Amino acid sequence: MKPVELKKDIFWVGAIDWAVRDFHGYETPRGTTYNNYLILDEEVTLVDTVKYDFSEITIKHIQELVDPAKIKHVIINHIENDHATGIDKIMDLSPDATIHITDRGKKGLDRFFDTSRWKFHIVKSGDTLKIGKNTLLFLETPMVHWPDSMMTYCQEAGVLFSQDGFGQHLASTARFDDQFSACVSSVVLEDAVVDYYANILMPFGQLILDKIADLQKLGIKPEIIAPDHGVIWRSQAAKVIESYVDMAQGKADLRAIIVYDTMWKSTEMMSVPISEGISSEGVDCRILKLRATPMNVIIKEFWKARGTLFGTPTLNNIMYPSVAECLTHLRGLRPKNRLAGAFGSYGWGGGAVKEAYEIFDKMGLEKFDSGLQVIYKPSSEDEEKCYRFGQEFAKRLKEYHTRF
Ligand code: FEO
Repeated sequence: MKPVELKKDIFWVGAIDWAVRDFHGYETPRGTTYNNYLILDEEVTLVDTVKYDFSEITIKHIQELVDPAKIKHVIINHIENDHATGIDKIMDLSPDATIHITDRGKKGLDRFFDTSRWKFHIVKSGDTLKIGKNTLLFLETPMVHWPDSMMTYCQEAGVLFSQDGFGQHLASTARFDDQFSACVSSVVLEDAVVDYYANILMPFGQLILDKIADLQKLGIKPEIIAPDHGVIWRSQAAKVIESYVDMAQGKADLRAIIVYDTMWKSTEMMSVPISEGISSEGVDCRILKLRATPMNVIIKEFWKARGTLFGTPTLNNIMYPSVAECLTHLRGLRPKNRLAGAFGSYGWGGGAVKEAYEIFDKMGLEKFDSGLQVIYKPSSEDEEKCYRFGQEFAKRLKEYHTRF
């Protein structure tokens, strides 16, 4: 791939990671990209670096445009390893550059590198940097999604360098949203946006709304949004902001999912009549088996649906490990405005369903009922109970959904 110009004299110089399938535990079947950008102004400016393994690729891209020794400014919007670990090699070639970074970013970078070799300029929200005909405006976005995070807006060009915000894990030769949608599908792109938001940004909804409001107060309506992953938004920049507002407000579909695991198929057998009961009330229901479905897909589907039922067998008086793992992931993501319930089979003592409800309490989820348990294997009478459990869940879900 060659550098790609996104606006006059502003180039994508990043790297495509076609092979990554495990992104710190997040399954990435479509790979990802590490985007960074070079601005060829009077003072040459690099916005972000890339993951260390891809340093040579971004350096090659930069060298196709300019001698890296001429880089005067390096903006570090976010210090997570996938964006900042390339800095060592870049700075070796650009020894005169000043690194512009937030105070927390500098303190974090100090933990990863010998930063005494480099020049720094600490920036905060509202600071600007004139690099020639372009002016860069810095906007701190702490905890979206690391304490150091910020975005950089190129005022004259109307380009928002948004670091992880508005990103997607999509490896593609298409660099722009319209190119991707024309060749693949806008459905795939929308799904990738939701997947990324649900798995990375779900806990930060209110902060995201605040930051979008800050952009609006400053009169910033980016013509182009250039994230650090996936395609660059040039035809749907306004639309992706709107979709972030929706997601940050906790928007969900009136649908249910059943997330379950099973030892000897009893809990699995319960899930089918439960789903039929849900469906009988006109609510769509999808069944997802843990251990057969990537965790990030479970999280995305949980996020898209207003209600979820968790099916868990009891193992040694507690939840089945894969269900506990799923709830641990979700608990960290702090979902809001979702209805949850649980069911499962047990042999003698039980305990899994009760434990699931204790976790719902800790998560602050709206609870449905106190759960449904079946001993050993569901009888036809139990299957009828499961059906009614599903029906009642759907009725409650429809009522709950009207609150939003
Ligand atoms: Fe893509 Fe938070 O790093």
